[in-house]
Amino acid sequence: MDATFTAWDVTRYGGPDVLSPVSRPLPHPAPREVLIRIRASAVTRADGLMRAGHPKFARVFLGLTRPRAGLSGTCFAGDVIALGEGVTRFAVGDAVFGEAGLLFGANASHICFDQDGSLVKKPQSVSYDEAATLCDGALTSWHFLTRIARLQPGERVLILGGSGSLGTAAIQFAKALGARVTASASARNAELLTSLGADQVVDYACEDPLKRTETYDVIFDTLGVSSFGAARSALTRHGRFICPVLGFRLLRDMVLTGWTRGKTARFAAAGLATPAVHREELSDILALMANDHFAPVMDRTYPLADLVEAHRYVETGRKRGNVVVV
Ligand SMILES: NC(=O)c1ccc[n+]([C@@H]2O[C@H](COP(=O)([O-])OP(=O)(O)OC[C@H]3O[C@@H](n4cnc5c(N)ncnc54)[C@H](OP(=O)(O)O)[C@@H]3O)[C@@H](O)[C@H]2O)c1
Repeated sequence: MDATFTAWDVTRYGGPDVLSPVSRPLPHPAPREVLIRIRASAVTRADGLMRAGHPKFARVFLGLTRPRAGLSGTCFAGDVIALGEGVTRFAVGDAVFGEAGLLFGANASHICFDQDGSLVKKPQSVSYDEAATLCDGALTSWHFLTRIARLQPGERVLILGGSGSLGTAAIQFAKALGARVTASASARNAELLTSLGADQVVDYACEDPLKRTETYDVIFDTLGVSSFGAARSALTRHGRFICPVLGFRLLRDMVLTGWTRGKTARFAAAGLATPAVHREELSDILALMANDHFAPVMDRTYPLADLVEAHRYVETGRKRGNVVVV
């Protein structure tokens, strides 16, 4: 077995250059932990924001003066290569994928992971690259559409930001749930959104998607480019405005609409749901993949050694779907 492992340190908040590679002795899995050799890990928009310590109030969870975890990466896929005492859910040789959340350390060659954490077996039909992305856009969009918006068959949904990691998953999930889907994107991504099943695509550069005559039961602002106030008139009577990007305005709108039976604004930190919820949601997503209702959209793949470049690309805000390092 390898004697050392490679990871990426983040010892202060800042741009992609604060990432630095480190080599450390390979750890032994503690009781109930598995040691995983990582084959692919995601580089996500959220990873970049956490590396930058943005928004500042998130530092309450991440570390007040510097990143507490000190490592980069949250979503990974790989193979179990050793077991700690008392491991019952996995065996050596199992292909797995999971979400390290605030423990970080996924952009690495290896990781020790609690068998009862957000970790599930990877089917052979799903590649390591694809599996590494599922805990970002797919898990978040599934959580928002099914648990936060409770999207129903026949409802109309507007997805703002249809070409990102969350948006490309949300279009496919909303269609699988039986909704009628309108999604916004620039002209260069219109064809992609149609191929994913969007019934209508609105070019956000030419037309404000919220100022059309149509109204929606759910508006999913995947990027935080709008607000409940701006979306209100485009919502039906019991319409839900859902957004995964928390700011003070959204927090205020959630408080103000939380007790009403009319139009509401809702947020959730999908990554912070319990491991049991994650495992259930990932199993739903794998079932959708097995039935050809969902496939993650893959953009670029970088070697793990080029993590800084991968972060720079993700930070352009122009990626389509998902980026991984292998
Ligand atoms: N709350 C949670 O649990 C949670 C979990 C995961 C992620 N998040 C957050 O979710 C957000 C979205 O992440 P993501 O990875 O999906 O984003 P992303 O992939 O980085 O989004 C990039 C895409 O957005 C499109 N875009 C940019 N501006 C747009 C606009 N005004 N209207 C429509 N599309 C636009 C770009 O297309 P063009 O180049 O064509 O413009 C590009 O394809 C991030 O802020 C992330 O931190 C939250």
